[in-house]
Amino acid sequence: MKILLIGKNGQVGWELQRSLSTLGELVAVDFFDTELCGDLTNPQGVAQTIRSVKPDVVVNAAAHTAVDKAESERELSQLLNADSVEVIAKETAKLGALLIHYSTDYVFNGGGEHYRLEDEQPAPLNVYGETKLAGEIAAATYNPRHFIFRTSWVYATRGANFVKTMLRLSKEKDTLSIINDQHGAPTGAELLADATAIAIRTEVTNKALYGTYHLVASGETTWYDYAQYIFDIAKELGESLAIKEAKGVETTEYPTPAKRPHNSRLSNQKFQQAFAVKLPDWKIGVKRVVIEALGK
Ligand SMILES: NC(=O)c1ccc[n+]([C@@H]2O[C@H](COP(=O)([O-])OP(=O)(O)OC[C@H]3O[C@@H](n4cnc5c(N)ncnc54)[C@H](OP(=O)(O)O)[C@@H]3O)[C@@H](O)[C@H]2O)c1
Repeated sequence: MKILLIGKNGQVGWELQRSLSTLGELVAVDFFDTELCGDLTNPQGVAQTIRSVKPDVVVNAAAHTAVDKAESERELSQLLNADSVEVIAKETAKLGALLIHYSTDYVFNGGGEHYRLEDEQPAPLNVYGETKLAGEIAAATYNPRHFIFRTSWVYATRGANFVKTMLRLSKEKDTLSIINDQHGAPTGAELLADATAIAIRTEVTNKALYGTYHLVASGETTWYDYAQYIFDIAKELGESLAIKEAKGVETTEYPTPAKRPHNSRLSNQKFQQAFAVKLPDWKIGVKRVVIEALGK
């Protein structure tokens, strides 16, 4: 099996380099590569890469993920998150290749308190969510042989993310205000990469599984409780923290350019059943990354 990975150095892309390497021949590209184009601002260049590599599977882990910046960078966000995905979908379809693409809880408006199912009506609140939804539609429209994995609150040892920001701030500041009315599941890049490899393996013998899945860790939390958990683990590991008080605040008290959904709970039952896996509780992966980030 030959796999082309686009976006090899992002949080998820980095872990995919590990998890996909045992499945077959892996060709991994990024936007700065010169030999093979992996730059989503140049969709025709990426199409040429697909034509020359002739992969059996394309995994697209690249995206415009800066949610607030996207509000003032709609065109770039649309190009990276949607227009380039359309080109990738068309090119993979011509080859008959499997396309794996990642999307987000931000395609929903976050109403209610329930765990959302895959077929609920999307209604994005921000430009990032709108362009990711357009990317989902393009992938599904132009390559029927696709998996779209919607995930949420991604963290990893590599890259910038909430776990690492909280560890840094907890050493610098004695008080922090953290949002406590947005609910979701922090999901590790490691888990996403392992689950993706399982999905690719499963697809070899089961061609009836194509479609959209919510691929998130189990359970739920708020940013505030998530931060408290990070601080607790760090303290348990003997780390000396400056933080004395973390205050829970409402979203309205912390205005950002992009609106964010209150309810990002996604049901992961469909993925667990289709691929016969258990998606562990979010705390398990977060604890591992805190230990790794602190070098313990
Ligand atoms: N992060 C989250 O919380 C989250 C939540 C839900 C869904 N997702 C989705 O999960 C997937 C993986 O996200 P992630 O967390 O791994 O994001 P990430 O760490 O930001 O990775 C995205 C990668 O795309 C690269 N990139 C930027 N511009 C590019 C271009 N023109 N051409 C090719 N690559 C380019 C980025 O490079 P630079 O870093 O150098 O810009 C980065 O390496 C994405 O589809 C994302 O939308 C993420």
